[in-house]
Amino acid sequence: MASTVCNILFSTPYPFQQKIDANRSKPKLSNIIQQRIDKKGLICNSTPMKKKRVLVTGGSGFLGSHICENLLNKGREVICVDNFFTGRKENILHLMDNPYFEVIRHDVTFPLYIEVDEIYNLACPASPIHYQFDPVQTTKTSVHGAINMLGLAKRIRAKIFQASTSEVYGDPEVHPQTEDYWGNVNPIGIRSCYDEGKRCAETLFFDYNRQHNLRIKVGRIFNTYGPRMTMDDGRVVSNFVVQALRGEDITVYGKGDQTRSFCYVDDLVNGITSFMEDTPDEFTGPMNLGNPNEFTILELAETVIDMIDTKSKIVFKDLPSDDPTQRKPDITLAKNTMGWEPQIQLREGLVKTIEYFDNYLKAL
Ligand SMILES: NC(=O)c1ccc[n+]([C@@H]2O[C@H](COP(=O)([O-])OP(=O)(O)OC[C@H]3O[C@@H](n4cnc5c(N)ncnc54)[C@H](O)[C@@H]3O)[C@@H](O)[C@H]2O)c1
Repeated sequence: MASTVCNILFSTPYPFQQKIDANRSKPKLSNIIQQRIDKKGLICNSTPMKKKRVLVTGGSGFLGSHICENLLNKGREVICVDNFFTGRKENILHLMDNPYFEVIRHDVTFPLYIEVDEIYNLACPASPIHYQFDPVQTTKTSVHGAINMLGLAKRIRAKIFQASTSEVYGDPEVHPQTEDYWGNVNPIGIRSCYDEGKRCAETLFFDYNRQHNLRIKVGRIFNTYGPRMTMDDGRVVSNFVVQALRGEDITVYGKGDQTRSFCYVDDLVNGITSFMEDTPDEFTGPMNLGNPNEFTILELAETVIDMIDTKSKIVFKDLPSDDPTQRKPDITLAKNTMGWEPQIQLREGLVKTIEYFDNYLKAL
């Protein structure tokens, strides 16, 4: 009976419209709700839900495109904002037919006025080659971009996620890195535009939280890899895979004994969206998100060669300045607060990444 009443009410969206028009009064939300209570006093629980509208800055980049896809799959309406500096239309082409997906070409260093419920702020070049190409713009993207997105979130009372980075720990003296470690960062080196830009963005997020009671989530992302990384962007996994697929020598900087932990993109995206959607507002982070399994760069090179039928050999080159020697997240906080930990281990993730780059290279 209740559902029949509800169906009638929804098949005629404003059954009381004539009365409203006659009275020349605006429909009040309370009136609308009242009309949807059936005669037996049962509240109709099939009120159409508004889709949550989510803004993803940097949405056509490697991580951003996977976040857009994940959110659309969960039934969200997604607005991707990107200036296409390192982002690519191919990363989001498969989402374009979805009526709940929109793309806006915009640089986050300029203000944006839009109505959304949540913001994922990922806009920022992430690979050294790209962020060192125009270091001033990199700092501006992190700092002005954060100010603009936080200003927007404040105005519309939206919840906002910041894609911070393990680089805020610099060349760490604490290993593995826990969130309470303040880091060891060179403020004037060639990586500083990225590292210090991200550190300043974190400061801004926490000041907006303290000063304006804004709902913030700050995730410190560790090395992540997977399909849709840009080839030749200097990131170690894509570098090694592409070099091996092309049969070129694999370049290892230094002796290759520096360590990294590699997180597969699907694991990371689940961690980010769960942080945003499943944790209470009081839980702001910062929270490490990454895979704690540690490998030396040399081990990674050997694994890639082992998995690809290639004639590539490993060659050694000088270590660039400020290259951190160790990197491994302590993810106890993520485990305890959301029960999150990576499920996909290196070889499994590499299979999917190699397949992606193999198809990509063949299509060139
Ligand atoms: N991938 C990783 O391993 C990793 C690790 C730590 C942190 N992060 C962070 O995650 C975010 C996404 O990284 P990614 O790996 O997808 O990099 P990416 O370079 O693929 O994506 C960055 C996106 O931001 C866009 N962008 C850059 N400057 C912009 C601007 N001024 N206005 C609008 N858009 C802009 C780019 O065009 C691109 O689409 C970055 O903020 C990065 O710092 C990534």
